[in-house]
Amino acid sequence: MAIFLTGSTGYIGGHLAAGLLEQHGESLNLLVRAKSQREAAQRLWHALQLHMDFARFQEHLESRVDMFLGDLTEKRFGLDQIDYARMVKTTDSVIHCAASLNRKSEKACLNVNLRGTLEVVRFARDAQDDHGLRRISHVSTVAVAGHRSHEVVREDAAIDWQRSDYDPYARTKKFCEHMIRELLPEVPRTIFRPSIVLGDSRRAETTQFDMVRAFVFLAGLPLLPFRPEDKIDIVNVDYVADAIVTLHQKEKPGHEIYHLSSGTDSQTYRELTRALAQARGKGMPMFAPGLEKPFASLVNFLARRKGGVGYGASLLKVFLPYLVWDTVFDNARVVAELGRKPTPFSQYSYPLLQYSRANHFTYRYQEWPDAARGAGE
Ligand SMILES: NC(=O)c1ccc[n+]([C@@H]2O[C@H](COP(=O)([O-])OP(=O)(O)OC[C@H]3O[C@@H](n4cnc5c(N)ncnc54)[C@H](OP(=O)(O)O)[C@@H]3O)[C@@H](O)[C@H]2O)c1
Repeated sequence: MAIFLTGSTGYIGGHLAAGLLEQHGESLNLLVRAKSQREAAQRLWHALQLHMDFARFQEHLESRVDMFLGDLTEKRFGLDQIDYARMVKTTDSVIHCAASLNRKSEKACLNVNLRGTLEVVRFARDAQDDHGLRRISHVSTVAVAGHRSHEVVREDAAIDWQRSDYDPYARTKKFCEHMIRELLPEVPRTIFRPSIVLGDSRRAETTQFDMVRAFVFLAGLPLLPFRPEDKIDIVNVDYVADAIVTLHQKEKPGHEIYHLSSGTDSQTYRELTRALAQARGKGMPMFAPGLEKPFASLVNFLARRKGGVGYGASLLKVFLPYLVWDTVFDNARVVAELGRKPTPFSQYSYPLLQYSRANHFTYRYQEWPDAARGAGE
């Protein structure tokens, strides 16, 4: 039997697939958007090459990975009856990690997050009715907590339907949690809510640059429109992935919901900028919290421009509410279960900044080696 995993070609999902294969020897049923098995294998190789060499990847692909070519937004993922039935019969647990993180597009969030999660729920129901599911794990986000200010939010107090949300992403992810809880009441479930997932504490390389661009943009400013003692809840991807994999595999996790975050240990802007200034041998930026509104207007203006500055500003525009809310997410549950805390961002932020700048915010993918061409066909 296998774990059905969505989003394996993405940043966090790639870490999950690698963790399940390498550390737990699991078999995986993966939903991959591709026109052929070969394209799917190449896309998966891109996602997993941060974690293993090609020989190891191929070994897993041949022995323990079954790729189903489908899309979350299609009925039965667009699979034919035979493939869908095979996936149902061979799945004994589900990790739903795929999502649209496009905060600017309500359409993308409605389609991928709501319709897509409903398809995952239908599939889980079919597997549950056929032979029973061990667990469904859903990768959500702390953004489901909606508008907040100067708070420490605990897992059971995060969802408040009377509260507004910052964007369609947050709103749809909140409803995804609701669907899973309401429509699969008898299936053991775990909801994981990562905070801002930024970088890997073990290496500078990353394949995801959106939040990194916003961070590098801010790191280049001599004046920051933030309150220096505000905390920002950033968590390393290796911690997030290890928590999801470990708790999904555990027979009885202690809780239904986990914040995967730095919680009250989150660092302040002053701490983060001091560490970065020391590493770069430069002075500290100044803080001018009174400039938050003019800064937001400037970001809006720059976001309309073309090129790198425009792109960085447009990303900053959507992340800005999460940078000034001074809200952190209590992580006592996950720290107790894993027996360790996330790595403070100041410990690995400088290598991440250097790597991203030096590589112009792109990861240099190794392509499929010629000798093995055709293996994925
Ligand atoms: N990154 C963060 O800071 C953060 C923070 C909190 C929570 N999260 C949550 O973590 C999860 C993963 O995020 P991520 O940062 O890894 O995102 P990502 O890199 O953008 O990956 C998204 C994944 O979802 C897949 N997907 C999107 N639309 C799909 C569709 N219609 N059908 C099938 N697959 C589809 C993508 O497939 P393609 O490769 O084909 O596009 C990709 O594999 C999400 O649920 C997100 O809400 C992320």
